[in-house]
This record gives sequence, structure tokens and C-alpha cells, in this order.
Amino acid sequence: MSQYKIENKVDRGFMPKKILVISGSPKKDGNTVTLVDWFAEGARLKGAQVEIVLTASLKYKSTGCISCRVCQKIDTYECVVDDDAKPVLKKMAEVDVIVMVTPLYFFSMSAQLKLVFDRMFSLYKWDNEVGTMKTPLKGKKLVLIASAYENIGLDALEKPFALTADYTGMEFESLLVPNAGVSGEIKNKPGIREKTVALGEKIASAIKEKAQ
Ligand SMILES: Cc1cc2nc3c(=O)[nH]c(=O)nc-3n(C[C@H](O)[C@H](O)[C@H](O)COP(=O)(O)O)c2cc1C
Repeated sequence: MSQYKIENKVDRGFMPKKILVISGSPKKDGNTVTLVDWFAEGARLKGAQVEIVLTASLKYKSTGCISCRVCQKIDTYECVVDDDAKPVLKKMAEVDVIVMVTPLYFFSMSAQLKLVFDRMFSLYKWDNEVGTMKTPLKGKKLVLIASAYENIGLDALEKPFALTADYTGMEFESLLVPNAGVSGEIKNKPGIREKTVALGEKIASAIKEKAQ
């Protein structure tokens, strides 16, 4: 054994990139949570710091955005409804990548995800006189991962995410999984795990490279 103490090669200037994964399924052991776990596994493998939020477990004081518009009159980017969604929205403004994962519910995102999605209103500030919109989301990446039982409608589900990304100056990428089965069955579908882990790795690697 070497007499020398081997120091860990730690780059002290390295800050892990942050990814916020927002899961929109009410099922604690369903397909969405499985996709979340696979994505997080890949992203963590490449050194990203991954935080997972289950929207169905949050306690809300309002049913979605109540259009009070107080967020438009204050200087900070925050939702004034003081509940569990508030810190999630704050985190969205701080991380490098936001990943939204949802089951297809009647050709749309789940209601559980929409409760948080609409409150992203507080992360935009419009100046209608000048015709501008400012947002801390600009320059981030938005990723959508969605699964469905059939192979109809995932393209419709993708639209609001792609348009929101475009509107706010975020890059957009998606992984759509048709024919995923009912809750829990995605684990038995060949190739999906590999694809989702690889996406996590790719996204985490890309933000690391961007920072260098
Ligand atoms: C309320 C509800 C609505 C659904 N709507 C659709 C649909 O429009 N199209 C489809 O292919 N699958 C639909 N599904 C099936 C789910 O999208 C699919 O099984 C998904 O992978 C389940 O994810 P989960 O286990 O995280 O809930 C629906 C399921 C539920 C419970």
C-alpha cells in the first residue's frame, strides 16, 4: 500500500448543476414516478443535483392560479399564494433545468401538474405599454416526459409545454412514451428505461458543458 495519502481529485470550483423534476401523477408507484426515477438516475450519474417534487403531495391554498395578478405588481418573481407550490415556483427560477413528467389525461397534462403549471404566471412580468415580457426562466431548459396508454394525443399534450418554452426563451426537449400500459406496466416495456436514463445523462452532461 502506498505511504502517500491519496487525495480525492475534487474540483473545488465545481458546482453541481441543478435539475428540478416535477411529477404530475397522483399514483405513487405508477408509470410517471418510474420515468422520474429513471431520468433522475441518469442525471445523477452525470453529476447533476436532482430534486423531485410530487405535485399530488403538495398542500394547496388555491386551486391553481386565481388570477389575482398581485405577482405583476411586486418586484420579485413570486406567487403570493403562500402554500407548498410557492417554494416550488421559486426553485423553478433558480435551477438550470425544469423537467415536467405527466401521464396523458384526456389528451392533456394531469390536473395535478396544471395546478402548479398555471402558477408559473408569477414567473413572468409583462410591460404591456412597452410590449415586453421578462422572466427568470429565459435561458433554462424545459423537458417534458409523458406517457400514455394509447398512441393518440401525446402530440397535443406536448404543445403547451413547447409553446411555453418558446414564449419564455427556454430550450425544449421531450420524451413521449405511447403504449405505456396502465400504472406500473411501464417497467415491463422494453427499451423505455434505457431511453429515459440516457435522456437524464444527456441533459445533465449538456448543462455541465454549457457551464464550462
Ligand atoms: C383520468 C385518466 C385519463 C387518461 N387519459 C388517457 C388518454 O387520453 N389517452 C391515453 O392514451 N391514456 C390515458 N390514460 C392512461 C395514462 O395516461 C397512462 O396509463 C399513464 O402511463 C399512467 O401513468 P401513471 O401510472 O403515472 O398514472 C388516462 C388515465 C387516467 C387515469
